[in-house]
Amino acid sequence: MSPEKPESPPDLAHNEPEVHPPIRSYGRIGGRALSARQKRLLDERLPEFEITLTGPGALDPNTLFKTLPDEIWLEIGFGGGEHMIGQARHHPNIGLIGCEPYIDGMVKALSGIETADLHNVRLYMEDARGLLAALKANSLARIFILFPDPWPKKRQQKRRLIQVDFLDTLARVLKPGGELRFATDVASYANEALAHFIAHPAFDWTAERAEDWRVPPVDHMTTRYEVKQLGDCRPVWFEFRKTAGEFSVP
Ligand SMILES: C[S@@+](CC[C@H](N)C(=O)[O-])C[C@H]1O[C@@H](n2cnc3c(N)ncnc32)[C@H](O)[C@@H]1O
Repeated sequence: MSPEKPESPPDLAHNEPEVHPPIRSYGRIGGRALSARQKRLLDERLPEFEITLTGPGALDPNTLFKTLPDEIWLEIGFGGGEHMIGQARHHPNIGLIGCEPYIDGMVKALSGIETADLHNVRLYMEDARGLLAALKANSLARIFILFPDPWPKKRQQKRRLIQVDFLDTLARVLKPGGELRFATDVASYANEALAHFIAHPAFDWTAERAEDWRVPPVDHMTTRYEVKQLGDCRPVWFEFRKTAGEFSVP
């Protein structure tokens, strides 16, 4: 005897896991009226550099550049773009990807890219976590997260970008041996981030002496945000290397 058919199909929607967008890790993205020049940069130049996402985990970032780069580096939250542009100018054979949802920051970066006539930069004007989900595993050689929004108050700290599951995401896209640079001038963020990275099986902290984290890397490019020293401690400069062994993505 065949089992009785249910009268109506099961309500599959109730069995689907609920998908929540990540908690927003950035503050305002715009507001001020744009000048004619800023509008031109966004309307005419951004499309030349902007990344369009394909399916999850499928985007090979090498294909975004006309000339095959030696390596791909990613800066998450580039602010006014000074560091990203400085790195792109000094490393013409590297493909630099920058993510920044803040419109003024994007306009500044486009202005810098135009002035320096850069061809090795690609841009994403939304939450970096969308781009990271779209990238192929092991596709980045270096990631910069410099002075991320500090969210200093206790009740805001869940908005910080560095969270355990975010480290899993970073580990997936970083190549074995790839580097991640993190800087902050907020003591509680420095302690929290360091604890997360040290506890994570995919990352090794490269520092051997105090100077290694107290002094910026020799090739660092200072930004306007950084010199304002808005935090409560001297900047720390952490560098982590993705372990060469297998890391299984949870
Ligand atoms: C405090 S600013 C520092 C900017 C820059 N890194 C510097 O050192 O000058 C942090 C930047 O990160 C950006 N940001 C925060 N969360 C982000 C995310 N999920 N994806 C991309 N950018 C993000 C913010 O919009 C903001 O411009």
